[in-house]
Amino acid sequence: MTKKALVKANPKNPVQVEKMRVACKAAADLLDYLTDFIKPGVSTEKLDQLAAEWIAERGFIAAPLNYHGFPKSICTSINEVVCHGIPNEKDVLKDGDIINVDVTVIVNGWHGDHSRMFTIGNVSKEDRELIDVAYNAMMEGIEQVKSGAYVSDIGAAIYNYASSLGYGVVENYCGHGIGQVFHENPQILNHDPKDPHQDCRLRKGMTFTVEPMINIGTADNYTLEDNWTVVTRDGKKSAQFEHTIVVTDDGYEILTVSEKNYLKPPYNKK
Ligand code: MF3
Ligand code: CO
Ligand code: CO
Repeated sequence: MTKKALVKANPKNPVQVEKMRVACKAAADLLDYLTDFIKPGVSTEKLDQLAAEWIAERGFIAAPLNYHGFPKSICTSINEVVCHGIPNEKDVLKDGDIINVDVTVIVNGWHGDHSRMFTIGNVSKEDRELIDVAYNAMMEGIEQVKSGAYVSDIGAAIYNYASSLGYGVVENYCGHGIGQVFHENPQILNHDPKDPHQDCRLRKGMTFTVEPMINIGTADNYTLEDNWTVVTRDGKKSAQFEHTIVVTDDGYEILTVSEKNYLKPPYNKK
């Protein structure tokens, strides 16, 4: 069935995809590195410092820093924070917390964008299930991807999967095209707006993120006074994973692959 899709996005050529592969590998390596430090007693400020040092030592750039005025190098979103949490020394991780750490690394001008959830100490069954659903939702979306499919197929799969399990799917933030620009066309919505003006036909070489935000309760959310931190309206928890991928003829390639094969928590425990 042919759908109308009016958003245009430029595919990358194989040389450019290779540059994306390198940047995305750096993002995955950085999260692998941070994993050992994400435990009770550590502040999100410390995690930001560790990330900033890791990035600077390699001559890379932290894309979030000063991005539209964002003050830190990574985003750290704890519990009811949906996304864009700002690292600070008052946020000290404690038993039972869940946290999303979102890193975007620029390597030779190309962006790799990647986030994972982490559990701190003993986390409730409800929260572990939330994390699983967020991971599975991302993968349900990614599995739609191949040349000739539509961006709306991704959103529809994510939305149907998570909402049928009773979770709130955040609609006012989304994935995005990525390359030499951090956020470019197409937007990768986490639902299907059924609007050709917001849809895009996928072509080999297109690079974008899939990054659904899934809430235990309502999808509704608002931004705190700091103008960044997005929190759930009902104060219930939220989870998110993010991969950067490239479209191939018969499917997709996940570019933000962990060398340590870290997928979802618990990490380090086989
Ligand atoms: N990494 C986020 C994303 O997935 C964007 C963070 S923008 C910032 O698109 F300014 F908040 F860092
Ligand atoms: Co990100
Ligand atoms: Co992103």
